[in-house]
Amino acid sequence: MTQANSNGSTIRASTVESEPPTIAIKSLNHVYFDYQSKKTVHALKDVELEIQPSELVTVVGPSGCGKTTLLNIIAGFIKPTEGQILVNGRPVNKPGKDRGVVFQELAILPWRTVYRNIAHGLEIQKVAKEEIERRVRRLTELTGLEGFENHYPHQLSGGMKQRVAVARTWAADPEIILMDEPFAAVDAMTRQTLQEELLSLTVRTGKTVFFITHSVEEAVFLGDRVIALSARPGRVKADITVPVSRANRSWREMSKNDALQECVEDVLELVRGEATASDRSGGAVSADRTHEA
Ligand SMILES: Nc1ncnc2c1ncn2[C@@H]1O[C@H](COP(=O)(O)OP(=O)(O)O)[C@@H](O)[C@H]1O
Ligand SMILES: [Mg+2]
Repeated sequence: MTQANSNGSTIRASTVESEPPTIAIKSLNHVYFDYQSKKTVHALKDVELEIQPSELVTVVGPSGCGKTTLLNIIAGFIKPTEGQILVNGRPVNKPGKDRGVVFQELAILPWRTVYRNIAHGLEIQKVAKEEIERRVRRLTELTGLEGFENHYPHQLSGGMKQRVAVARTWAADPEIILMDEPFAAVDAMTRQTLQEELLSLTVRTGKTVFFITHSVEEAVFLGDRVIALSARPGRVKADITVPVSRANRSWREMSKNDALQECVEDVLELVRGEATASDRSGGAVSADRTHEA
């Protein structure tokens, strides 16, 4: 919290020190039992992570290193074998309205129009019709879906469908948005547009975002911080602060900005070693550079 003093400048209230992070992950371990092979799979190991209000943290790591598992644990879909997730200082172990998820697979309903897809969660929550209208209008504006309200998903391009999925999660107004490789299935040009739109949406709405990707360039382009996970069992291998403010990033700037390019190289270096380790143990190499300028 900040407050203005008598000469107009702002001072930090002393409470700021004691405010908990939006998300705190403590001593997290997760082990699956694979019923087919009758073996245990150690997916995550000793993960410690804090995410502050309105931060956008990206997570990158080789395929199979536990990224989706981590997201599912934060979302409350999976109970971790060990450790704890705190949201604003309170332990969580089930899904809640404070956390919205944008899944890797498109989670939009083909029989509902764009408007009714975005409104869906709000209708379930029995939000008043006028409020639903207001929120859907704002989200269609923010995501470039104006004019498409009455279209059905089959009438939309892949990029437009992905915008519907994003708008739908935002409409419920959760404090935290968890995103699992949401742009992996769209073409490269559309992906860049969606990434720029996501930056602007997150800056304008101040959401705290946890974003998983297997693309190092995407991780650096979108993130305030990039968390690099090791090959399975996933550990936090590095926590890198991106040296340029997220507010004014664009792909045009990204290709010209030395600090951002160096950051990409640093993270690529970290992830390459892990991808090789993962490859040897049967996982796919995932340090691909999908946004070559
Ligand atoms: N329900 C499950 N039962 C057993 N093993 C699982 C289950 N879900 C995921 N795994 C295994 O856990 C590891 C991590 O999976 P996941 O979190 O999906 O990785 P990522 O998203 O990084 O690709 C993988 O080896 C995967 O095969
Ligand atoms: Mg995954």
